[in-house]
Amino acid sequence: MMKVPKTINLTDRMQEQLPSDLLDFIKKAGEAAQKHQQRLYLVGGVVRDLLLERSNFDLDIVAEGDAIKLAREMAHLNRAKTTVHPRFGTANLLWAKRSADITTARTETYEKPGALPTVKPGTIVDDIARRDFSINAMAIELNPRHFGEFIDLHSGRRDLKRQVVRVLHDNSFIDDATRIWRAVRYEQRLGFRIEPATLKLLKRNVAMLSTVSGDRIRHELELVLKEEEPENAIKRAGKLGVLNRLHPSLKGDDWLAETFALARERCLPDNPPPNLYLALLAYRLTADETEQLISYLRLTKATAQLLRDTSAIKAKIKELSAPGLAPSLVYDFLHGYSLTALTAGVLGAGSATAAEHIELYMNVLRHVNPVLSGDDLKKLGVPEGPKIKDVLQALREARLDGKLDSKEDEEEMVRGLLNPP
Ligand code: CTP
Repeated sequence: MMKVPKTINLTDRMQEQLPSDLLDFIKKAGEAAQKHQQRLYLVGGVVRDLLLERSNFDLDIVAEGDAIKLAREMAHLNRAKTTVHPRFGTANLLWAKRSADITTARTETYEKPGALPTVKPGTIVDDIARRDFSINAMAIELNPRHFGEFIDLHSGRRDLKRQVVRVLHDNSFIDDATRIWRAVRYEQRLGFRIEPATLKLLKRNVAMLSTVSGDRIRHELELVLKEEEPENAIKRAGKLGVLNRLHPSLKGDDWLAETFALARERCLPDNPPPNLYLALLAYRLTADETEQLISYLRLTKATAQLLRDTSAIKAKIKELSAPGLAPSLVYDFLHGYSLTALTAGVLGAGSATAAEHIELYMNVLRHVNPVLSGDDLKKLGVPEGPKIKDVLQALREARLDGKLDSKEDEEEMVRGLLNPP
């Protein structure tokens, strides 16, 4: 007798793990799709995390048919903010801290490595086959009569059990080399291994990273830096020759791991901002190398400034390591840099004295201001123009070094400056 494959139903699992409002959302979406005679599926990371019992409430939904029409209907029900991309047949819904991507099932063909694929409407089978790894290529049906049925065409569940990250076909990293970073990220996040044949392909295709735009690589790096312990992925990327594709001088070593861990301790109870990690990753580059990284990753103005500030602070660490510096000098060294750059300086300094000086600036010195204002100075007879700024600066310096305590002290100093003995 022919054996009928047993269908696995994950409804109970979804009930246990998803908040009831999300469960309600996907049920209603399934009903709406049914009304339009569309098939609807939950796919990607949320399915993977359901099976791993990890919380993940970012719904990724695929419709065989018009996803945008369905998305608008669901948006209406949930009063969600909707963003649609008609060209790609995709929509994103945002409501009450929830997010759902609803996309039309599609096939993808890659005409050129690194370029974005050509996309055509397809079936769920096509849509699953275009994905990066087996563990991200599972689906759950949402239509009422088949609600909860598990679709695993590429042995994703087996790979979750074996704890491996495996590509679906040999050209995967050539089609889309960002998957190299993604493989490392999932491996390290989940404590899995990149499966041996996949690892071979990855190593063989590391050079394909040069086919991908800096923007897309930056996006992958940002995702890495949002992980709980990004140093794990960075270290692994270092060993695989992936990190030095960002810049040959970057290192994923023990210094980096220790410094990232210190950043985490310092930022408790929050996670460090990804930009602080980025500043630490770039910390040991020279100023020229920093510029190369900035232009390769096409960093925003603000992030580029952060890396430049960090580099400038690093260049002053030697001077800041001298014990007993006058506070006004510390102020001069550090004035004008962002707090994230200063924090990177503290963490990267490698000198307790320099770190203390930077902390002193961050906690105390940067808040020191003269009591007298520009207007007060005018009233005391300081001529308008650059002189006002000079006198304010002299007052601040004297305050920083503890030479002035009160408004009267400041006035006396101003009078002294106006009428030198
Ligand atoms: N995907 C892919 N190839 C890529 C990017 C994404 O195949 N280069 C697919 C995967 O199936 C992935 C899904 O699109 O699961 C959604 O992508 P993304 O939101 O980046 O991944 P998640 O799996 O949701 O990962 P994370 O848990 O990191 O959010």
